[in-house]
Parts: sequence; structure tokens; C-alpha cells
Amino acid sequence: MLVDPFGRRITYLRVSVTDRCNLRCVYCMPAEGVKFLPRKEILSYEELVGIAKVATGLGIEHIRLTGGEPLVREDLPELIEQLARLEGLKDLSLTTNGVLLDKKAKALAQAGLKRINISLDTLRPERFQSIARFGAAEDVNRGIEAALSAGLTPVKLNMVVLRGVNDDELVELARLTLDQPIHVRFIELMPLGEYFTPERLMPAEEILQRLSALGELRPGVHPGGCGPAEIYQFEKAQGTIGVIGAISRIFCAKCNRMRLTSTGRLRPCLDDEASMDLKPALRPHIDEVKLAELIRATVAVKPEKHAMVGRESGSTRFCMSGIGG
Ligand code: GTP
Ligand code: 5AD
Ligand code: SF4
Repeated sequence: MLVDPFGRRITYLRVSVTDRCNLRCVYCMPAEGVKFLPRKEILSYEELVGIAKVATGLGIEHIRLTGGEPLVREDLPELIEQLARLEGLKDLSLTTNGVLLDKKAKALAQAGLKRINISLDTLRPERFQSIARFGAAEDVNRGIEAALSAGLTPVKLNMVVLRGVNDDELVELARLTLDQPIHVRFIELMPLGEYFTPERLMPAEEILQRLSALGELRPGVHPGGCGPAEIYQFEKAQGTIGVIGAISRIFCAKCNRMRLTSTGRLRPCLDDEASMDLKPALRPHIDEVKLAELIRATVAVKPEKHAMVGRESGSTRFCMSGIGG
């Protein structure tokens, strides 16, 4: 079992399989000048499975594949197949921008992926272009349909709420939960990157107040998963509403996760640089004993909480694309 110095059980590993992305969302990456890492720096599937095997042996029960955009990595179903076979793994999920999902959903499900979370910041085509800079809302919509029909459920949609940019769509997005088994989560903008300003951050309380225009929101039953969302539901709705208040409703006391970057650094917290390089335990050959030591050592330095509350400008030390959202 992995237990950190604050008594939290660590059961959830977010694995970034690539730093590359086919979009350039404003809150995540600059428009130009993004440098991607050379291929040899990125962990191979064999290395990723090696880490996952040791991690599940130590008590990791849920693995989520992230990026960059995980679906731009070739042959992802091959990795999923191997991970799905790991003893002790109870949940295997993926977070995607959805653009390539239409083509890939079926193969992902067949390989053993259980469920999927899809970013969707707007339902409007022109606005999609202005937030994501590339891609099309239509492709994401087809991706959502494909995920539902492939049984990658519960399907969750993630909207990063940006005041003055997409906050006029809160109710429209929430409405999707009424007649379909779709779970929409509203995420507070975190102070990362140059895009962040305090004015753009809409606190959870205000998000919930805006949503009340659609009806009474009651505490809801978690649709399944192990992330930080608080769950609500409209009466008779098929899906649920989630609110991820990383700043105004800091949830670190319940933290259960670590992050593996695509280059093999294990980060104890999203906001903490104190990462451990696992490569010395992977190259020239996979050393399971050493891997276990490094994983335990990372858990041992997990900070109590992030330091993003009250930050006036976005940290430029790291961006979400490198650490998997
Ligand atoms: P499930 O509940 O298991 O479906 O997963 P999840 O909500 O953990 O996964 P997802 O990748 O959809 O995460 C949604 C968003 O929540 C992320 O993009 C982040 O914005 C935020 N988030 C997830 N984990 C953390 C965390 O550890 N700390 C903070 N501050 N934010 C997080
Ligand atoms: N604040 C909150 N969430 C973010 N993400 C990326 N950057 C930020 C940010 N600054 C999350 C979003 C997106 C996923 C890839 O990462 O949830 O959907
Ligand atoms: Fe855990 Fe760090 Fe996220 Fe807080 S910010 S929930 S401590 S990973």
C-alpha cells in the first residue's frame, strides 16, 4: 500500500503518454513556439507497462492515460491491452480532447479501456477555433457519440470555465445531462501559463449559482471514478454535474494521485517540481526493485497541498500538456 506523509492512500496514477497535442488550447499552450521532446526521451510502451506493473503491485488501482493528447500516440490500443491485463488494476481510463475519438473509440474499448473523459469548452464552432486554435467542434461531437456507442461509459465532458470567454454556455452544457447519460464537469481555471488572470477564474460557487437557472441542483451520486469532482444532479436528469474547484474548494486533503510525465518523471503533485526521474530504473533494462524504491520515495515527498490559491499570474514553470492535465 502507498500512503503519503499526510496519511493519504495513493491509488490513482495519471500517465502522460506523449507531450504532443493536435490542439493548442489557450489556457494550456502558447500558440507558437511549443517545442516537443525528441522521441527517444519519451518512454516506450514496454517501459510504461513496467512502471504500471510495479505501481499496481504497490497499490495503484486506477490508471488514467493523458497527454498532451494521448490519441496522437501511435498504437495506443497495444498499450491499453497490456495495462488491462495487470493484476490489481480496477479502473483504466483516458482523458482526451476528443478530436480523434470518432475513429479510435471502438479499438480503445476492444483493447480494454473502461471509460473516457473528453474536454469540451464550448459547443459553438467559431468559439471552438478561438479556444483550441485548431480542430473542429464537429469532430468532438462525433467523438462523444462514438464513445457512448463503444460503451466507454460513464462519458464525462470537461469544461474549463473562462469568464468572458465561454461562461455564457454554462447552462447549455449542463443541459446535456438532462436527456443523455452524459456527465458534465465544470473546472476552475488554474493559474498556469501566461493566459491566466484572476478575472478569468470563475469560482465554483458562482458556477453553481449560474447553473441554478436550469433548475434545482441536488447532491448527486458519483457516476464512477476517483477524481476530485463534487457531484450534483438536476431532478430526473440522466447524467450528473461535476464541479472541480481546485482553487476555491481546494481538495488536496483527499488527494489520491501521482502523475507520470511522458519522459518518465514521477510527480507527487501537479503543482510540485519535486519529481523523481524513473529512467535510471528503466534504462538500460527495467529494474523492478529500483522502480518500487523510486515510487515509494516519491510518495514520501508528496506535498500537503498545492500553492495555487491566490496566485495572481500563471506559473510558467510547467504547463498542463507536459503533466497530463
Ligand atoms: P475521474 O473522476 O476518475 O473520472 O477523473 P478525473 O476527474 O481525475 O480526470 P480528468 O482527467 O477528467 O481531470 C479533470 C480535471 O480535473 C483536470 O484536467 C484538472 O483540471 C483537474 N484535476 C485532476 N486532478 C487534479 C489534481 O490532482 N489537482 C488539481 N488541482 N486538479 C486536478
Ligand atoms: N486550468 C484548469 N484545467 C486545465 N487543463 C489544462 N490547463 C488547465 C488550466 N490552466 C485541463 C483541462 C483540459 C485538460 C487537458 O487539462 O481539464 O481539459
Ligand atoms: Fe493532489 Fe497536488 Fe492535485 Fe492537490 S494539487 S489534489 S495535492 S495532486
